[in-house]
Amino acid sequence: MQKKELHVSAIQNGTVIDHITSSGVLQVLRILNLETYEDRIYLGGNLDSKKYGKKAILKIENKFFREDEINKIALVAPNATLIEIRDYEVVKKTPVEIPNDVYHFIKCANPNCITNVEEVPTRFKVTDKNDLRLKCHYCEKNTTRATIEYK
Ligand code: CTP
Ligand code: ZN
Repeated sequence: MQKKELHVSAIQNGTVIDHITSSGVLQVLRILNLETYEDRIYLGGNLDSKKYGKKAILKIENKFFREDEINKIALVAPNATLIEIRDYEVVKKTPVEIPNDVYHFIKCANPNCITNVEEVPTRFKVTDKNDLRLKCHYCEKNTTRATIEYK
């Protein structure tokens, strides 16, 4: 008899995003535009984690993320691990990595920046990956974890 069970149902094919902070999980759903996703999504929140105390987990059936989507996950959930499931088996576990350059999906914190005044897509260099600091390509002002807003 199996005493230990999965907290959240196993999936046949798709991606498990593990080690999301409990406060980040809704943001991950939002930036990946999963509100309109049609297949099953499981969310486990406030689960115990040895490393992080509490964590959240997302399981998205039949979804395998592109690199630009993985970069988004990394900014919101820098400790996340992506787990690829094929035919119920774990085939790959990959920790996400904060990219060196970030395009489009973050707003510049400077209200006078051209990207906030005109229809110019944002562009940033990531200058600090630990505290998260992004330097705007246009106005050179910094956007940080405290001021970050997602488009
Ligand atoms: N998982 C899943 N569906 C499957 C297989 C695995 O949803 N068909 C999930 C598990 O719930 C777990 C994660 O994928 O959250 C990793 O699975 P596995 O490596 O088997 O778990 P553990 O060895 O317990 O890894 P960890 O301790 O890192 O959770
Ligand atoms: Zn700017």
